[in-house]
Amino acid sequence: MKAIILAAGEGTRMRSALAKPMHRILGEPMLDYVISACKDAGISELVCVVGHNKQEILDYFKEDTSLSFATQSTNKEDGYGTGFAVMEAKSFIKPEDDYIILFGDTPLIRWETIDFLIKKHEDGKNAFSFLSAIMDSPAGYGRIVREEDFLRIVEEKDTNSFQKEIKEINTGICIFKGSALLFGLAHLSNENAKKEYYLTDTLEILSKSGYIGDVYTYDCQEDILGVNDCYDLHVASTIMQNRINLFWMRHGVRMLRPEQAFIGPKVKLGQDLYIGPNVEIYGTTEIGDRCVLLGNSRIESSKIGNETSLDRAVVTNGEVGEKCTIGPFTYIRPNSKIKNQVKLGDFVEVKNAIIGNGTKASHLAYIGDADVGESVNIGCGVVFVNYDGTKKYRTTVKNHAFIGSNSNLVAPVEVQEYAYVAAGSTITENVEAYTLSIARARQVNKANWVKK
Ligand code: UD1
Ligand code: MG
Repeated sequence: MKAIILAAGEGTRMRSALAKPMHRILGEPMLDYVISACKDAGISELVCVVGHNKQEILDYFKEDTSLSFATQSTNKEDGYGTGFAVMEAKSFIKPEDDYIILFGDTPLIRWETIDFLIKKHEDGKNAFSFLSAIMDSPAGYGRIVREEDFLRIVEEKDTNSFQKEIKEINTGICIFKGSALLFGLAHLSNENAKKEYYLTDTLEILSKSGYIGDVYTYDCQEDILGVNDCYDLHVASTIMQNRINLFWMRHGVRMLRPEQAFIGPKVKLGQDLYIGPNVEIYGTTEIGDRCVLLGNSRIESSKIGNETSLDRAVVTNGEVGEKCTIGPFTYIRPNSKIKNQVKLGDFVEVKNAIIGNGTKASHLAYIGDADVGESVNIGCGVVFVNYDGTKKYRTTVKNHAFIGSNSNLVAPVEVQEYAYVAAGSTITENVEAYTLSIARARQVNKANWVKK
């Protein structure tokens, strides 16, 4: 089974410069959810039909080797509609293979739903299989019309008053044998209310031409929710958030307020975790066991070790080890590796730095482009001066060094083991092991100067 995902539509109702399938739900583009559901259902070859703002889509998925792209013309004069979009992918369609067709703007689709239709298609040795659902309010969807000896779908705009009442709707998900799909596409026309090539017309074409197939109903109303505007995006996001949080709460994650915990679909969480309000965890983040993530923390594509606590901290593309205490108000920027039992306190910013076991920077420090060893003490207000206006340089601070408050370490510079930097120093030269370095003007007290 191969998949063809349609994602070339204009998405005008989003009123956005961003391609519709790239709008994010819990940190991931909608299209990614559809692709993941296909892969979870065992589909390893996918073609995505792109058009409007296609470059963003191509760039985002460029490393996914299971994905190919077909381009739909963005000039409506050339043709438009779901049928036309599939025609644009014709060069990928082989007569002997089977193709499932899905939409890039239905992020709630589950692999189980895809699997249901695949099984029906394979069990029936079908040439075509369509998925339908029963909707209390079917408005907007194509209706399944079961005539005596053939099947067809009538689009909302083409329905008569009788058909409008039909509650069995077309989900948009369908499977074809390649040969049947090519036959169907070749017979499509755009003589309808919207002047579009409707993929759905293939149902009538194929069932009248003796091809074997059927329409199967499945309880999947939520799965097929299409996102057309920002409100739909919110609705889909909330449903996805509930699904993900339910899963994690069943796996031992405690959440103070699940509706205020935002966890991406690719995140992996340990056991016995506590998540406070307004915590966002996105990307490929992995969090160990017994961690505490307090309010307003945001973690993106980072690894957090066991028993670490974060309080109002931001960690992006980095690593924090075990038993660390981070926050409140700590910012750990990309390419940072914080080892075990490290303490980073309020208003400490770390960037592209390695920080060894047991090191502490309890307040107000900037540690950028640095290799900091074990059990180092970084005092309040220390700045790693990494940038001279043109280039960035690294600083090395070895094990057990002590950097006094309000010091500047002007890179490139090295502070060796057990060295002491006196408070208020501006260090521009290396400091040897066990050395005390004082780099500030000596204090002068002028008695009675004020009275004069
Ligand atoms: C479609 C179905 C309808 C079904 C509904 C379910 C057709 C004709 N109708 O209608 O029966 O009930 O989905 O949600 O298929 N697209 C392209 N290129 C195009 C047009 C669309 O790639 O030229 C993509 C869109 O980006 C979107 C998907 O196809 O992801 C569906 O298109 P949309 O216009 O939303 O179809 P509906 O009118 O909702
Ligand atoms: Mg739609």
